[in-house]
Amino acid sequence: MSKFIIQPANTLSGSIKVPGDKSISHRCIMLGSLANGTTEVSGFLQGEDALATLKAFQAMGVDIQRKGDKVTIYGVGLHGLKKPNTPLNLGNSGTSMRLMSGILAAQDFDSELLGDVSLSKRPMNRVIDPLTTMGAVIESNDGKPPLKIKGGQSLKAIHYNLPVASAQVKSCVLLAGLYAQGNTCITEPETTRDHTERMLKGLDYQVNITNNTICLTGGNELTATQFQVPSDISSAAFFMVAGCIAPQSNITLKGVNINPTRTGVIDILKLMGAKLTVSNKREIGGELLADICVQSSELKGINIPSELTPLAIDEFPAIFIAAACAQGETVLTNAKELRVKESDRIQVMADGLNILGIKNQVLEDGIKIQGGIFQKPTNTIQSHHDHRISMSFAIASLRCKYAIEIDGVDNVATSFPNFVSLSNSIGMNIKEF
Ligand code: S3P
Repeated sequence: MSKFIIQPANTLSGSIKVPGDKSISHRCIMLGSLANGTTEVSGFLQGEDALATLKAFQAMGVDIQRKGDKVTIYGVGLHGLKKPNTPLNLGNSGTSMRLMSGILAAQDFDSELLGDVSLSKRPMNRVIDPLTTMGAVIESNDGKPPLKIKGGQSLKAIHYNLPVASAQVKSCVLLAGLYAQGNTCITEPETTRDHTERMLKGLDYQVNITNNTICLTGGNELTATQFQVPSDISSAAFFMVAGCIAPQSNITLKGVNINPTRTGVIDILKLMGAKLTVSNKREIGGELLADICVQSSELKGINIPSELTPLAIDEFPAIFIAAACAQGETVLTNAKELRVKESDRIQVMADGLNILGIKNQVLEDGIKIQGGIFQKPTNTIQSHHDHRISMSFAIASLRCKYAIEIDGVDNVATSFPNFVSLSNSIGMNIKEF
C-alpha cells in the first residue's frame, strides 16, 4: 500500500489538461465492442478502471489495440462476444461491473464478474433486480459480487422506474434492452449522467427521450464510429477546489467535459462564491467541452440544493474540502448514495476532517461541515481504497500549515494516473512512497 506525504503549498498557477472522462472511456470500449465495424477512440483514460473494462472485452474475444490514449476497437457486433476462459476481474470498478451485467445477462454463455475488496462490498441488487425481471439469471453473494450470470436466457423488455438516481443502473438496463424483445424504458427519479444515451445515438441507435423517461427497442445494430473523450470533470473538480482554496492561484483547466448532467460541482462552487469562469465552449462528438479558469476565492458555507446532488455525485469529497475552507456551515442532505461508493464517502471524509480538526456532523444522508482552519493532523488519513478520498485530502494541503499523510493511495491510478505529476506541475508538493 503506498502513501502520500504532502507538504504545505499556497500558490497554484498554470494551465493543465486532466485525463479523459472515466464514464465515457468505459462506454467507448463496451459500445465499440458491440458495434459493427471499427471504432477509433482518442483521449481514452489510461486508468485502471477503464483498462479493466478493456481487458474484459479482450478476454471475450474482441480485438482491441491501444497506443497510449488512442484505442482501436474491432467491433464484433451485438452477438459476437465469446465466453471468457476465466472470471472477469473488474478491480475497483463499479461502472464496469454494473454496465457489463446488462450485456452479459443477454449472452449465450455463462460468465462470472468479480472485483477487489472495495467492489466486493458494493450493492449489486440494484442491477440484479431489473435484469431478473427482464428474464436474466444471476447469482450473487447476498446481493454483492461475485456475480455469476447464466447465459442462454432470452430477455424481455420492461418499463423500469429507477428507485435510486443511478446512471449505472439506467445504463445497465439500456444495454440489456439492446438484446430484449420489445421497447425497454427507464424512468429516472432525477436526471443522471446521460453518456450512454448520447453515445448510443452516436452509434446510430435510436433512443427516445421524453422528460425523465428513456426508451429503446431491442434487436437493432450499432454502427462503429469515432469517439474523442473529453477531460473528466470529476478529475478537474479537485483542481477547481484547489484553485479556490489556495491563497494565491490562477489556473486553467483545458477541454473539460461540461455535459449538463455532470456540472453540479461548478454550480455548487459558484454558490459558495468561487471565482470560476467557464469559457471557450465547444461541442465535440455530442459532448460539450470548455476551459475552466479558477482563482483564489473567499468561499462561504451553503445549504447544497438537493437537485444538484446527482449532478455532482462523484465530486462531494472535493466539495467537502471546499466546505472545510469556507466561512460558516455547509449542509448536504439527499446524498445517501455517497455511502455506497468506492467507500462510505460520508463517514470516511468525516473521519479525515476530524483528523484535520474540522468540526462536522455526520447525517444519515449527508453531512454538516463547519468551515475552519486545518490543524496539525492527529493521525494518518486512511483512503479506504477510494481514489477520490486520497485526492481530496491531498488538495487540503493548500490550506494546511503542516504535512498531511494519506495511506492507501494506490487507487488514485483507477481514475487519475498522473494526478501527482500534474498537481506538482502547478505548485503542489506531493510525494508518493
Ligand atoms: C457512473 C455513475 C455514477 C458515478 C460513477 C460512474 C457511470 O454511479 O458515481 O463513478 O459511469 O455511469 P451511480 O450510477 O451509482 O450513481
